[in-house]
Amino acid sequence: MNVAVLASGTGTNLQALLDHAHGRNGVRLVAVVSDRPGAQALDRARGAGIEVQTFERDRFSDRAARDRAVADWLRERGVELVVLAGYMQLVSSEFLAVFPDRVINVHPSLLPAFPGLGPIEQALDYGVKVFGVTVFFVDGGVDTGPVIMQRAVELPDARESTAVLERLHGIEHELLVEVVFAIARGAVSFDPVNPRRVVIAR
Ligand code: GRF
Repeated sequence: MNVAVLASGTGTNLQALLDHAHGRNGVRLVAVVSDRPGAQALDRARGAGIEVQTFERDRFSDRAARDRAVADWLRERGVELVVLAGYMQLVSSEFLAVFPDRVINVHPSLLPAFPGLGPIEQALDYGVKVFGVTVFFVDGGVDTGPVIMQRAVELPDARESTAVLERLHGIEHELLVEVVFAIARGAVSFDPVNPRRVVIAR
């Protein structure tokens, strides 16, 4: 399965996929896209010999045009699964239609709690005792798509977002690799009775 990663930032999730998924169990990272030319994720990809491309928002008339260009570039590379890993752009419904049920995202909260920006800060402000990570299929909303896998961690004394983020990053990296492998082996489907419910064959 040919995989692309879209990332805007440091790219630790990309690195986890490079280190633990790329070249194993039929998974191949073939392309990395960013909206930011200076993203550290691009350096990680180049270092691993993966083809990269930057699509800056202001080079295109609108988001739809930018997403068409991204989708075309990914299709030319035979991409079958798109992983959003800290990609700070919303993807359009036209983009999702090119890769139906094949765009996934990772978010550092137990969705539907704390969607959108600053989920860890939102959780700390709320005073939760249990934090977590969600990997989900992207739909037209903001962090609203069907949940593929979630993992929780009890942090009753958490105060600092950087410490929580560090803890959650480790979980994100594991979960994302697990989900990519599960999709690659054809083990992920939707419950016909409740299509919101993602089923993973063990
Ligand atoms: C992760 O926390 C991910 O959950 C969120 O953006 C962050 C990206 O981190 N969507 P990195 O660039 O993979 O280190």
